[in-house]
Amino acid sequence: MILDPGEGDLACGDSGVGRMAEPEEIMEVIERSLEQAADLSGREILVTAGPTREYIDDVRFLSNPSTGRMGFLVADRAAKRGARVTLVSGPTGLPCPQGVELLRIVSAQEMKEAVVDNIPGKDALIMAAAVADFRPESRAGGKIKKRDRVPELRLERTEDILGGVFSGGAGCVVVGFAAEAENVVENARRKMTEKNMDFIVANKVGVSDSGFEVDTNLASIMAPQDDEVELEMLTKVELADLILDRIVSILEES
Ligand code: CTP
Repeated sequence: MILDPGEGDLACGDSGVGRMAEPEEIMEVIERSLEQAADLSGREILVTAGPTREYIDDVRFLSNPSTGRMGFLVADRAAKRGARVTLVSGPTGLPCPQGVELLRIVSAQEMKEAVVDNIPGKDALIMAAAVADFRPESRAGGKIKKRDRVPELRLERTEDILGGVFSGGAGCVVVGFAAEAENVVENARRKMTEKNMDFIVANKVGVSDSGFEVDTNLASIMAPQDDEVELEMLTKVELADLILDRIVSILEES
């Protein structure tokens, strides 16, 4: 085993050249990674991901640009860290992470039903999905022909899963996301309070390298007691592990 000079306290000076590691050092590295790998073992986690689609007719729908990447990464990392993971996802092009039970849904209503059906027995719910807030009041059958009419869309609110269905609590650790274009911290804090979350992942959208369709997020994890909140540029994998670290410590304290 060659230790990389960048490997924290096992670094070997600043020459930039790796060296053969002592057996005790190798054991330490292995033990440390096994420790993290197993820190969610015996835990059950429900993750939501992706957009939902709200159909106007059989071929047209209202949706958003969520790719599902953040939720899929959280599910993947949680499974690798030993949890039993159920992932409820709207339509995405992503493959099912190894060892994860994937339930594919389409609409906000189906997402709500899948979350309600699967919440019993869970230790944590991570709502990374970009659930549609509005849907057409009715769905036309077939395809509306443009020569017939320009349809007038009347919209209605979808049910809020965290803010409505679980307003009295979900019986487990609840993590939400706030994708905000402005006043990120203030808006995220309000959502965290209104939706009874244990903590929220606040992230900025509408700037390059953060939000939908990219691998990084300008983000921060905020709990109700956190006063000073600084957004930092994190890869979505780093953010996924930070979210899970926070869940592990809440579960260990309770
Ligand atoms: N959420 C939910 N049910 C919905 C909509 C959102 O549970 N019907 C969850 C999201 O998964 C997210 C959190 O609530 O974890 C905040 O979602 P967001 O869309 O940022 O906030 P909204 O409350 O929908 O407010 P707005 O869109 O006006 O910012």
